[in-house]
Amino acid sequence: MEKQFWQDYKSSFFTVPVVVVSVDGKTRPNLITLGWTGIVNSDPLMVGISVRPSRYSRDLLHEHKVFGLNIPNKALAAGTDYCGIKSGRDVDKVSELGWHVFRGRSLGVPLVEEFPVNAECQITQIIPLGSHELFLAEVKGVYIAKEYLKGNRVDWTTAEGLVYGSQTYYVVKEGVFGQGDSYRELKK
Ligand SMILES: Cc1cc2nc3c(=O)[nH]c(=O)nc-3n(C[C@H](O)[C@H](O)[C@H](O)COP(=O)(O)O)c2cc1C
Repeated sequence: MEKQFWQDYKSSFFTVPVVVVSVDGKTRPNLITLGWTGIVNSDPLMVGISVRPSRYSRDLLHEHKVFGLNIPNKALAAGTDYCGIKSGRDVDKVSELGWHVFRGRSLGVPLVEEFPVNAECQITQIIPLGSHELFLAEVKGVYIAKEYLKGNRVDWTTAEGLVYGSQTYYVVKEGVFGQGDSYRELKK
């Protein structure tokens, strides 16, 4: 592969997950779209989310110390984008989008019903990194739409999961290889 030194890589040079974080506000829950996020530990199961201090949601996260993680799919791409361009300072994103909030049974955090997967998260550490603050959080409960469950796994092709990169939302279309299948191939 011939490479060039890429001066203009901007902020996104590989695909990342995209999530919508829900957090209680003064009068209503707020939603914020985040690309700088991921699973960072298995036991306890932990996630990290990076939020700029200027975001309206940032102070709410500091105040409540808990949040909901809502994993979007193709049908929610436009709403996910909307939560990433509008501020909760100005609009009620949940009602603007016609979405519905339910409360998690472990932490009572607001979660959005329309999303195929939701998780309740408890913040354990906040680390200033520079432009963003990294919130590390333990996952305390997960909710999954039954229609996308295959055995005890989410079928992301049926769920039409999203990834983000190059300022574009992409949809998961095909599973091309199972984790660990290379062991089976090597044994042949
Ligand atoms: C695809 C996408 C990814 C984003 N990722 C982040 C992120 O990782 N961290 C962040 O602070 N803002 C991120 N943003 C910007 C916020 O979502 C945006 O500023 C939002 O309007 C803030 O909402 P709030 O003011 O209600 O908190 C992203 C926006 C989009 C569209």
